[in-house]
Amino acid sequence: MRVLVIGSGGREHALCWKLSRSPELTKLFCAPGNGGIGEIAELVDIGAEDVEALAEFAESKDIDLTIVGPESALAKGVVDLFEKRGLRIFGPNKASARLESSKAFAKNLMKKYQVPTGQFAIFDDPQAARAYVRQLGAPIVVKADGLCGGKGTIVAGTLSEALGAIDLLMEDKIFKQAGERIVIEERLVGEEASIIVLTDGVTALPLLTAQDHKRLHEGDKGPNTGGMGVYAPTPIIDAALASQVMEQIILPTIRAMASEGLSFKGVLYAGLMLTSEGPKVLEYNARFGDPETQALLPLLKSDLLPVIDDAVEGRLAGMQLQWEAGSGACVVLASGGYPGDFQIGKEIRGLDKLANRRELLVFHAGTKMDRGRCLTWGGRVLNVVGTGPDLEAALKRAYDAIGEIQFEGMQYRKDIGHRALKNPAEASS
Ligand code: AMP
Ligand code: GLY
Repeated sequence: MRVLVIGSGGREHALCWKLSRSPELTKLFCAPGNGGIGEIAELVDIGAEDVEALAEFAESKDIDLTIVGPESALAKGVVDLFEKRGLRIFGPNKASARLESSKAFAKNLMKKYQVPTGQFAIFDDPQAARAYVRQLGAPIVVKADGLCGGKGTIVAGTLSEALGAIDLLMEDKIFKQAGERIVIEERLVGEEASIIVLTDGVTALPLLTAQDHKRLHEGDKGPNTGGMGVYAPTPIIDAALASQVMEQIILPTIRAMASEGLSFKGVLYAGLMLTSEGPKVLEYNARFGDPETQALLPLLKSDLLPVIDDAVEGRLAGMQLQWEAGSGACVVLASGGYPGDFQIGKEIRGLDKLANRRELLVFHAGTKMDRGRCLTWGGRVLNVVGTGPDLEAALKRAYDAIGEIQFEGMQYRKDIGHRALKNPAEASS
């Protein structure tokens, strides 16, 4: 099969790595890819949002299957365009991808179909939004309706923070149109976890559970980021809770979409808060998680390519994925300044020492090869993934490897997996 992967992050490197091990793969392209993906796939110089050019490329190169990484391509309608041209593609169409690209859409759907989530109200008018938060008080959560690269949610501890968030989104328009409408939501308390399934619109095939670390600093402090590290599976979701999530959240969501005439094919990712009242949805994503995918795919024994192919054809019923026993841990190495302003073009050293280490993979995110040198080229730069018989072993592999890597300004969290470990300091030293 000739396959095109769309995207340029660590998630797409992990996808390309897994696909490249499939006996069914004959040729792999990635658009636009990054410095690491170039070693296993042919890079195509087309941006993920340039959907017309991607469709032209897929047609001209006889691509059998295209797999979409980022939400921005889904929101641009890449699936609609490919399907119109008779090209096979894995991902939800633009209308279905609103589950991620419009928080107001997602919240209204959950309310209508009784999928557990926090209480909320939607506002187009800043005046009315301010009156509402004054009435409810803090803590409270203010969210931009549209896509903001994971930065559109403000968990406000005080009333003035909440009012400030409304100003930033609706008056200063820091996220342009994405913040013209906002969702104001009760703050939920509990542990967070990510549930990711592949779906053909009817059947849901779950991946292992994972726990992300969204905040920049250790101890879950500092600003929200796209994700600073992940481990999988997470012990906070046992088999009983996993089936509860499937029955009360994942399958009802897929059925709700179908009832709305919006069959959802692709990856459905539910970001959950495990509250004292049970699991509740914080958000949906309509794509593979990043960095969840980097920690999950090294544990997947099954060949991913035929499974995705079956999902596109609506053939997931009765299927199961096989997983390695043990754990995976992914630590993100980011540029100094991320998630704010950062510089790029810093040389990355030490990667050569890690090339053939057992139970260790380095997936590139924001990198670029330049005359044999590997340079930083984004906020999140590298994903160092360890696997092992348990979480401690997986983390040790990852953190040992990080000791070999250097670039100017490099920052990372030393406490990935801390909630699952009794003694985080020991595991990450
Ligand atoms: P979101 O943009 O909805 O993915 O939210 C990003 C992060 O903000 C989540 O991973 C949570 O840590 C936090 N968050 C979002 N919604 C809530 C909520 N209702 N209560 C508490 N924390 C939240
Ligand atoms: N890891 C969070 C996300 O993919 O949105």
